[in-house]
Amino acid sequence: MADILVTSESGALIIDGKAASAAVLDEVAKGAAELITSGIRPGLAVVLVGEDPASQVYVKSKGKAAETCGFHSVQHTLPVETSQADLIALVQKLNADPAIHGILVQLPLPKHIDSQLVLETIAPAKDVDGFHPVNAGLLAIGDRKRALVPCTPAGSLILLQKAMEALGRPIAGCDAVVVGRSNIVGKPMAQLLLAESATVTIAHSRTQDLASVVKRADIVVAAVGIPEMIKGDWIKPGAVVIDVGINRVAGEGLNAKGEPKTKLVGDVDFAGAEKHAAAITPVPGGVGPMTICMLMSNTLTAARRSKG
Ligand code: GUN
Repeated sequence: MADILVTSESGALIIDGKAASAAVLDEVAKGAAELITSGIRPGLAVVLVGEDPASQVYVKSKGKAAETCGFHSVQHTLPVETSQADLIALVQKLNADPAIHGILVQLPLPKHIDSQLVLETIAPAKDVDGFHPVNAGLLAIGDRKRALVPCTPAGSLILLQKAMEALGRPIAGCDAVVVGRSNIVGKPMAQLLLAESATVTIAHSRTQDLASVVKRADIVVAAVGIPEMIKGDWIKPGAVVIDVGINRVAGEGLNAKGEPKTKLVGDVDFAGAEKHAAAITPVPGGVGPMTICMLMSNTLTAARRSKG
């Protein structure tokens, strides 16, 4: 998969998440085809409550990817005023449906719904987001054979592994700094790096002198959700940088409709960081595309396990 790495003018390897994601989707489609011949068609149910435009876009691409992989794919779109009880009843129905191997409830949910309660209603074996405490616990005890791992950190690890392989360096023994401590990215990412035998630090909004913490890292994973917070000169020469952030900020000029343009940036100042890094993911086109392909990979895994 050498074609996922391109050398930039600064000499850094730019890690192409689109190419890596396409390769994973290809493998998943092949795996699904094999499973289908044995009588099981992987099934993914995506549940969307409300009309948040960003969530609508995500859910649509998840359904599309599922169809591309040959999965049985269903989408449940519920009105914003759906009660917590009705949403939980739907999740329970999907838990009991043998044609469904993966359930994803798109976040954020409307404020009147307790998201954690809903996520904990999903059967752990069908929790393809990997957000259920059972899956978080299995990951924490290093049992990846039974866990379903959250998609964004799982995809980030693949990109990191490709870059480290190309650089001829093991992850084991590296100083890895994860900036951000969310349950969705920061904490599971730290667990994955620990399982790879990195020495892991989790930094966050209350970390003192974040610059000097990042400066000692051989591997930096940025997942804070603050545009370009990690400055280029914080990056240790030769470090590998995985930028999980996707932040929409003001761009330059006006679009065709005469509105101010916007653009996507990561949590890392890319232009500054690529001067120091050995390898780095761009935004967009880095970690972003990996989330959906790992969701498909988790659905295939869940379907395979359902067979025993
Ligand atoms: N909203 C934004 N990202 C995600 C995700 O990975 N899973 C779910 N369920 N909702 C999200």
